Amino acid sequence: MIRKARPGDLETLQAIEVLAGEAFRAVGLDAIADDDPPNLNDLRGYAVAGRAWVATDSVDSPIAYILVDEIDQGAHIAQVTVHPQRSRQGIGKALIEEVERWARSCGLQALTLTTFSEVPWNAPYYARLGFTELPEPQWTEDLHRIVEMEASQGLGAWPRVVMRRNVTAGE
Ligand SMILES: CC(C)(COP(=O)(O)OP(=O)(O)OC[C@H]1O[C@@H](n2cnc3c(N)ncnc32)[C@H](O)[C@@H]1OP(=O)(O)O)[C@@H](O)C(=O)NCCC(=O)NCCS
Repeated sequence: MIRKARPGDLETLQAIEVLAGEAFRAVGLDAIADDDPPNLNDLRGYAVAGRAWVATDSVDSPIAYILVDEIDQGAHIAQVTVHPQRSRQGIGKALIEEVERWARSCGLQALTLTTFSEVPWNAPYYARLGFTELPEPQWTEDLHRIVEMEASQGLGAWPRVVMRRNVTAGE
């Protein structure tokens, strides 16, 4: 089931982030694996704003989550993470589809995100979901700000891309 995140979920989301981060060691991105998870204040901000969703197991405990910022009349996916024991079951895709439904209901026109271009479960995964790379000349001021902020956090040490997918008209 997918539902909005609640304050009681937030520590579980941090734990999921730490576990999922371990996968980056296999591609030499140990520094990403070692990164702290989003802090509780930031997570609470997304939850209070109604821009954090969780996928839950049979006892309503989160097994994955997605965080969204509203920028440029679009929904920017700041984070999407699935518990490694639940990966490759379509949960990431379902969370992104839930965000698209929400974006459509808000009249937003696009989904955007930034990601590592060469990590198999990052840019190639989003490409399979219909996202395409947005070349730098097409970045908005907000996207530039996000890329610069991420670079200042050390993410720019590996190739990254901005990707975009249109919000479709829906059913
Ligand atoms: C990226 C992520 C959210 C995908 O979620 P998911 O629920 O596993 O993905 P889905 O089930 O919707 O799609 C599965 C597809 O993802 C890709 N994928 C997922 N894990 C992968 C891995 N370890 N290696 C290669 N591709 C992978 C494949 O394309 C896979 O399709 P396949 O199983 O047919 O090969 C999840 O792998 C994750 O949390 N990763 C760690 C955190 C992260 O990188 N977040 C994104 C930051 S931009």
